[in-house]
Amino acid sequence: MSDNIVLIGFMGSGKSTIGRILSFKVKKSFEDTDKLIEKKTGLTVNEIFEAQGEESFRRMENELLKDISRRSYGVVLSLGGGTPVSLANREIIKGLGTVIYLRASEETVYAHTKNRKFRPLLNCDDPIARIHELMSEREKAYIECADIVIDTDKLNIKGVVKEVCKALNL
Ligand code: S3P
Repeated sequence: MSDNIVLIGFMGSGKSTIGRILSFKVKKSFEDTDKLIEKKTGLTVNEIFEAQGEESFRRMENELLKDISRRSYGVVLSLGGGTPVSLANREIIKGLGTVIYLRASEETVYAHTKNRKFRPLLNCDDPIARIHELMSEREKAYIECADIVIDTDKLNIKGVVKEVCKALNL
């Protein structure tokens, strides 16, 4: 097991924001799988979904995870909300380090994902129903991967970082 700090959770649960702040605090670099895929392909996640479809994006995610697990060093890593859905990915994620699930309610996620244009899966006629459907499908996968679960709904950003640090004994 390597010593990465891995943040998982639904879109809009604050993984990137919290991850960036946490990385400063623990003096580790911050990585974000969506950003790494965008850098590698020169395309936005949205463009990949549009031009090549979700399946193609999921293959890229899986390849990237395998890469990260091979070169695993201590980083704070934020994973895309759908990354833990596949069993193959979950097996890799569990070996990456300490996995923290930032859990948010459907209402919070909806409020945090107002700009759904950039989130292909929520760019639909009924995003509330979509969030409900996807969250119900994914909760088990998140829980299966997580070493630590932080309920973020009643916390501000500073509060979430504090809880994460407490849970990590930092
Ligand atoms: C996705 C979440 C997104 C991104 C893609 C698919 C998902 O990442 O990977 O749009 O399936 O939940 P964030 O969770 O960082 O928004």
